[in-house]
Amino acid sequence: MANRSSEIRKQVEMAIAFNRAPLEFLQNDAASASGSSRFKIGPANFVHVFDPTLIKHVLQSGYKNYARSKEFEVLKPIMGNGLPTNEGESWLKQRRLIQPFFHSRYISSFSKQMTESTAAMLVQWQDKKDGVVEDVFSEMIVLTLDIITKTLFGYDMKEKILELKQVTTVLIELLSKNMQSAIGSFSTDTSQQKEIEHNTKLLSDIISEVVNSRSNSNTESFDLLNMLMQAEDADSKEKIGHQQLKDELVSLLLTGHETSSVALTFALHLIYSYPEVRDKFINELKTLNGKPPSPEDMRSLPYTLQIIHETLRLYPPLWNITREAINDDKTDGLDIRKGDTVLVSPYVMHRDSRFWENPETFSPERFNDMSRINEFAYFPFGLGPRKCIGNQFALMSMTISLAMIGQQFILTPISSGKINLNPLITIRPKEKISMKLTKV
Ligand code: HEM
Repeated sequence: MANRSSEIRKQVEMAIAFNRAPLEFLQNDAASASGSSRFKIGPANFVHVFDPTLIKHVLQSGYKNYARSKEFEVLKPIMGNGLPTNEGESWLKQRRLIQPFFHSRYISSFSKQMTESTAAMLVQWQDKKDGVVEDVFSEMIVLTLDIITKTLFGYDMKEKILELKQVTTVLIELLSKNMQSAIGSFSTDTSQQKEIEHNTKLLSDIISEVVNSRSNSNTESFDLLNMLMQAEDADSKEKIGHQQLKDELVSLLLTGHETSSVALTFALHLIYSYPEVRDKFINELKTLNGKPPSPEDMRSLPYTLQIIHETLRLYPPLWNITREAINDDKTDGLDIRKGDTVLVSPYVMHRDSRFWENPETFSPERFNDMSRINEFAYFPFGLGPRKCIGNQFALMSMTISLAMIGQQFILTPISSGKINLNPLITIRPKEKISMKLTKV
């Protein structure tokens, strides 16, 4: 009896420690064991994996044994059967359908739109009161939403973009709490549930408007929405259903904008907090001769890309990748049991001194030779068949936006120093990041 109650107390303490500071919890866990460790939070059995070979096994070579974990259930009411929450044959069919659209030759055709969205934001920055961007993250959310809705859905939200921002921001905050509750097995309060339902309905209405406006239009557009609406199943010749179409759009919108907007926010803060990095960045932009970067210019911006990689190393937006074991798995020294939640953390691996010299230091130069990077110790976009579908899209759009910002303004962080982190579904900065603008 005494043993049982001390076991329960230990699990409650673990749950509290994990929920209070999950990044530190996982870093300490990896430091105190080798390869993998096992712990229990509430009824859930966790296996934290932090060895490159084992990570490769779980996410890549042995992926068939590892399904979406229980926390993804929390996303289902919003994303339905969209790519991130879908499984099995249905997931494979949708992934094969959507993947070609993210091929680099299509992505290149979006550069004009990415450039225009960034230019529109920079026009507004000219009029900022006292030349200050009060909340860089908020600006980056609007920018990435604008880019995604225009490139993928061929739709200009105009002033509705602020409503979309409000809805997606609230949803991500509430969903994160629910996902953490799913880990710690805490119950969620009903008022929070109601707010999720309310905002899910608002988002669904916005997406319906996008789909309806396309259904009623006679103009030919080249975007993902058009491709999905035209697509047919190879065997049955059936078109994609209305609900599945909406699920894919909501999923791409949520996964695509949030990750890129936090990454851009951290990148801007880091570039302008390190004078040598800033100067090297500004110098590289001179090769563009004042023009916005085209897809062909990407090759002449290697340092900007290194900055992005180094930002994604220190602040991988998705800090935590989880799977549920379908069956027992004892290969490669792992001892995983059916139903275990397997947890792989890019954040932990990206700051592990076994793979990175001075891991806490911001140094874009470490990415000047990608062949030296261990792909199972650096994977901000995940690994294996479920690797991010939008990784090339994200890298190009971030490069374009950063370069255009750097061509027009020098930003000075108003509060310098360490950024405190808020690990929700993505790692967000805890406090507002404000920056002062000076025209170049
Ligand atoms: C810096 C930007 C981004 C980062 C760091 C990022 C990261 C990731 C990661 C780590 C995964 C894998 C999750 C897992 O294995 O469980 C993922 C999946 C996904 N990402 Fe991204 N992502 C980014 C941008 C984007 C963009 C721009 C889009 C779309 C426009 C996108 C769409 C998706 C989708 C649909 C999935 C699910 C794929 C599947 O399960 O088949 N992401 N992302």
